[in-house]
Amino acid sequence: MPVVLVTGAGRGIGLEFARQYAAEGWRVIACCRKPQAATELAKTAKDSNGQVTAHALDVVDHRAIDQLSKEFARTPIDVLINNAGIGANQKFGESNYELWQEAFRVNTLGPMKVAEAFVQQVAASGEKKIVTLSSIMGSIGDNKLGSYYGYRSTKAAANAVMRSMAIDLKRLGIVAVALHPGWVKTDMGGPHANLDVATSVKGLRRVIAGLKRDDTGRFLSYDGQEISW
Ligand SMILES: NC(=O)c1ccc[n+]([C@@H]2O[C@H](COP(=O)([O-])OP(=O)(O)OC[C@H]3O[C@@H](n4cnc5c(N)ncnc54)[C@H](OP(=O)(O)O)[C@@H]3O)[C@@H](O)[C@H]2O)c1
Repeated sequence: MPVVLVTGAGRGIGLEFARQYAAEGWRVIACCRKPQAATELAKTAKDSNGQVTAHALDVVDHRAIDQLSKEFARTPIDVLINNAGIGANQKFGESNYELWQEAFRVNTLGPMKVAEAFVQQVAASGEKKIVTLSSIMGSIGDNKLGSYYGYRSTKAAANAVMRSMAIDLKRLGIVAVALHPGWVKTDMGGPHANLDVATSVKGLRRVIAGLKRDDTGRFLSYDGQEISW
């Protein structure tokens, strides 16, 4: 049974990843900040006969990430999904530097630390894939509207992290990519987004399933389109 680890699996895109991979027969290590409050994830776990397990993990807590890695030291992880993320949407002149720093801790340092902690488990697996949910908002080439300084910069930095990781982990046969989920109806995307979460995750899973060694270091949308850095 292939294994996937997802961060931020209590709601939104992360929860849908957990549900869809479970429905396809995967073992799901579902991480979220407060499993006791994540009622929908708890229900998915309960109905899964142990195939889905929920684990407390705040991605800014590096000690907790190391602890979880120890817990799963002997579990090969086929697909590691850095999904946890926060917004930090600010206009020029209105910067909230505390929030901006927190966004760096979650959106940029989080994926790096989770990858560093679990790299051996991914290297020991069949699929060997590390995926970070970035955003087209992190594309410098595509930025034609300005603003969103905090969110854009943390996702652009996450892209730089994934690109270096792709090069450095090639020797282990690991494929590392940045993915854009589309504009998705979640708490973050809001009700006016043009994609429902099931469609986005279905597309993301298809892209992840199709990743080959040569795809490492790419920045792809949920529909498989390449996004400019
Ligand atoms: N929705 C969109 O349109 C869109 C577009 C582009 C990219 N993305 C990216 O896709 C990913 C998922 O977004 P979403 O739409 O599902 O957002 P969401 O509905 O706001 O959910 C965010 C998830 O991240 C978790 N999270 C936040 N801070 C965390 C931390 N410190 N440690 C662990 N988990 C944390 C949240 O957990 P709690 O429940 O504990 O808060 C929640 O599960 C994010 O990286 C986001 O930037 C989304």
